[in-house]
Amino acid sequence: MANESRIDPWSSDQSTDYGRIIEQFGLGTVDPNDLPNPGMLHRRGIVFAHRDLDVVVGCIERSEAFGVLTGLMPSGRMHLGHSMVIEQAKWFQQQGADITVTVADLEALATRGTSLTKGRETAIQEYVHNYAAMGLEPSSTNVYFQSSRPAVQRLAFSLGRRTNLSEFEAIYGFAGETNLAHVQAPLVQVGDIVHPQMDEYGGLRPIVVPVGVDQDPHIRLTRDITQKTNWFNVKPRKSGGLTVALSVQDDNSAEFGVTANGSIDRGARDSLFNRMESGLRDIGFSDIHGNPKHGTMDVPGATQSDRYKIRSLMLGMERSMGGMGLMPPCSTYHRFAVGMNGGKMSSSKPETTIFMDDGIEEMSKKVKRALSGGQPTVEEHRRLGGDTSKDVAYQYLQFFFENDDKILEDVRRDYQSGRLLAGDIKQICIDSASEWLIELKDKRDQWEGRLDEFLAPDAI
Ligand code: TRP
Repeated sequence: MANESRIDPWSSDQSTDYGRIIEQFGLGTVDPNDLPNPGMLHRRGIVFAHRDLDVVVGCIERSEAFGVLTGLMPSGRMHLGHSMVIEQAKWFQQQGADITVTVADLEALATRGTSLTKGRETAIQEYVHNYAAMGLEPSSTNVYFQSSRPAVQRLAFSLGRRTNLSEFEAIYGFAGETNLAHVQAPLVQVGDIVHPQMDEYGGLRPIVVPVGVDQDPHIRLTRDITQKTNWFNVKPRKSGGLTVALSVQDDNSAEFGVTANGSIDRGARDSLFNRMESGLRDIGFSDIHGNPKHGTMDVPGATQSDRYKIRSLMLGMERSMGGMGLMPPCSTYHRFAVGMNGGKMSSSKPETTIFMDDGIEEMSKKVKRALSGGQPTVEEHRRLGGDTSKDVAYQYLQFFFENDDKILEDVRRDYQSGRLLAGDIKQICIDSASEWLIELKDKRDQWEGRLDEFLAPDAI
């Protein structure tokens, strides 16, 4: 299909046709006005899309528990591109979230041959150190390693039963020659994403995963798999309201009153329906119509915004009956910051990005060489103005270094009107970036030797 694009977490090209991605994959769009205390990335449209973010916003508004799950591949050095999900995690944390950080050491071992020892060292010294410096709160942050959390690996195995190679082919474009490491890694990642909902890791609550849009295939896979495990589906009812429908599976047939020969055990089914009905009454619904034979229960008065409430109730009930009771993860997507030469940002090409520990001189050199949106001559520039959609220095102020919207707006206006020259805007970027890097280094120094505070008990 010529018009369809696959977004691929391993591809080196990066689609930046965000409008098409939203449409093709059915993402929601982020409106900063719908968020409490929107952060800089929201206000500037950099976090542009989501799945089920309204669920998280509801938790924030009602001061209910929710979590963030983010992950890192412990290879190479941390750079600005990596900082965007941490900025978001920090924002969620400020709104009440607990944070779980996956060190994808098994994935790095499988896909890159990084030893677990080396992975651990890189994860702590390079990534956790910078996360601490960026301001994550240790008291509600838990960093763990895939290799030392068996619950994650067990989930990868048991949830693997809910997918197959055809789905991997459709989602990731895998074919016969695909290395099996690339089959294993996404399954472990599904385990990473859902495990914070388990009782031992915080319990049933929404988990939001902030990612670059190239990682959406993992989110889709996880959402698809979790929904397949659900014992109850909550869906819109044709003539208004919501319907709860049983999903009969091998592991729930006894509880659902389905006998070995497939007939319905009326007693068991009726007692299930009584429990469902009293649960729904407890959370405030009174007009309830059960159809035990069809395995459905209609709640005509429920609105779309009651869906989360009813879903949570049913997941809790599923758990009490022995099911996993998993919520599909929520997600947010950020735009990619452009590489310094106008192409893709890449750790393997140091000139395309700024590393968290770049010296001021190195950084200045990169900014000076960066792709400019200035005109070829000063005369033309004064007349036509600079192009902020191309100018890397401007975009780095916008994505990373200038927190103040008013100052950024002044810079934009003055650059576009030609008052600021390309060299001027680069100098402004260098000044802000210097301040940013120096502060980060100070904070790193303060955290030196104390990074254990961020590690989960099984990571120490
Ligand atoms: N696959 C991610 C990467 O390549 C790392 C990762 C593993 C991850 N588990 C995760 C990211 C869970 C987000 C959520 O960087």
